[in-house]
Formats: sequence, C-alpha cells, structure tokens
Amino acid sequence: MFADTLIEKLQKSQHLVILTGAGVSAESGIATFRDALTGLWKKYDAETLASEQGFRADPALVWGWYEWRRKQVLQAKPNPAHYAIAQLAEQLPKVTLMTQNVDDLHERAGSHNVLHLHGSLHQPRCLDCDQAYDLPKQADSKNTSNVESRIDPPHCYDCDGPIRPGVVWFGEQLPVNVWKLAQEACRECDLMLVIGTSGVVWPVADLPNFVNKDRGCVVQINPNITSLNGLASYNLSEKAGAILPKLYAAAFT
Ligand code: APR
Repeated sequence: MFADTLIEKLQKSQHLVILTGAGVSAESGIATFRDALTGLWKKYDAETLASEQGFRADPALVWGWYEWRRKQVLQAKPNPAHYAIAQLAEQLPKVTLMTQNVDDLHERAGSHNVLHLHGSLHQPRCLDCDQAYDLPKQADSKNTSNVESRIDPPHCYDCDGPIRPGVVWFGEQLPVNVWKLAQEACRECDLMLVIGTSGVVWPVADLPNFVNKDRGCVVQINPNITSLNGLASYNLSEKAGAILPKLYAAAFT
C-alpha cells in the first residue's frame, strides 16, 4: 500500500511537520470551504463575509454564521485522521502540527501545541480593544438553527466594543509568532505531511516550498488533485480518515 521509502522516512523522521486543512475535518462532518458547501458560501461572497468590513457591515449575520459553525464543531467529534496525527506525535522525536482549521478537533484528539495559522473559533476577542472574550461552552442552539442565523454579537466587558470571531479574516495578517514558527518548522523538517488542503490560500499555500529540497520531503494526502501534486514526492489520493491510520500502522505497529 505504501512505498517502502515513505515508511522508512516516516519511521526515521527527526522532525515531522504536519499541515492540515478543512479536509482533515471533513469526515467529522464539518463542511470544507470549496467543496459543495452550505448555501452561504454560494449566496455571499466569502471574502466579503469573512472580513472585517463584512462584520462591520452586518455584525449579526457574520457573528451568527460563526456561531453556527462553532455549534457544528461542538457537536462534531474527532475522526480517525485526527487520532492518527496525535499518535504520530507520540512515536516521533519532534512533530510540529499546524492547521488552517479554526476547530479544536486536533486538540480533542490529543494533539498539543497546535499552531492555528488562521486562528480559532474558540478565541473570540473585542474588535476595538482586542480583549479576549469567554464564550459559553454551548453555542446558542435556539438561534443557530441554520447557516443564516442572525445573532447580535456580545460586547466587550472592558470597552463595550463588539466581540468578533477569533479567526483570521481575508485581508488580515496571520498571527505573527505562529507564522514565524510555522516557517521555521518547514525549513527545518525532514518530512512534511500536507493533509486535506486545496492549497489556494496564501501565505499558507507557500509553506511546502519552505521544505529543504535536499533534506526534506513533502507528502500530500488528498482524494483530489491540487496545485501541490507537482511538488509532493508522494501523493496519497485517499481520504485522510481512511489512510492515516493505515500509514501509522504500516510504520509503527
Ligand atoms: N481527506 C482529505 N482531504 C479531503 C477530504 C478528506 N476526507 N475531503 C476533502 N478533502 C480535500 C479537498 O479535496 C480539498 O482539496 O480537502 C481540501 C479542502 O480544501 P478547502 O475547502 O479549500 O479548505 P482549506 O484548504 O483548508 O482552505 C484554506 O481558505 O477559506 C479559507 O480560511 C479558510 O482556512 C481556510 C483556507
């Protein structure tokens, strides 16, 4: 099922980088962005909605959508891909896990120190003063019945500004320290697994290019072809939840 060379690289890895996208949560029932998505992405221009100006223009629509997504995440469970990724970290000397996902399924599967390149649904903050805001553990279920629920965002305890989702919006910079760590890890690693991302959103799409061509190797796990197919040394065209447990077993059991 797997090339011996790939298994050997995984077994001997001294620093493995794992980059995930929405595809790793697809088998947990969380819709990806560019697959056939809930109506919202078709009815509204994503870059308008998932942006500061979109939020300022219609805070209730944008906050309602993120609460709907948070409710989806709270109801979802990690899938075998998340668990296999957490198990890899227990087997190898150094694993840096970085994700574009704003859910906490990696953490709930046992992964630690996850680099959230695009922020997190669970870390909202004040739009005006940046103060963190503690959301109730359960999303407001009566109002998040559908993707277009409108919910007025809460207000900051300190300055009364509107609370915004803790995600990186289009046009915003990635968290500076997280981005620096991600670049350093990709430069240093000897193996990079790129799992479930279409690789169309920059600057994250550039990370596989940071892998040292002499020392490193890129492996893609995605049932569809992406722009990464040409750069990856191995393209495993399978669903992450199906193939990652097999890859783990082939290398470590
Ligand atoms: N296993 C592996 N890959 C999968 C699976 C699966 N079960 N199901 C779908 N995929 C792949 C799809 O083929 C696609 O290439 O996951 C990828 C998901 O791509 P996108 O929906 O574009 O998600 P992602 O790459 O994470 O988007 C990046 O774009 O909208 C912004 O900020 C948002 O973080 C997001 C960023």
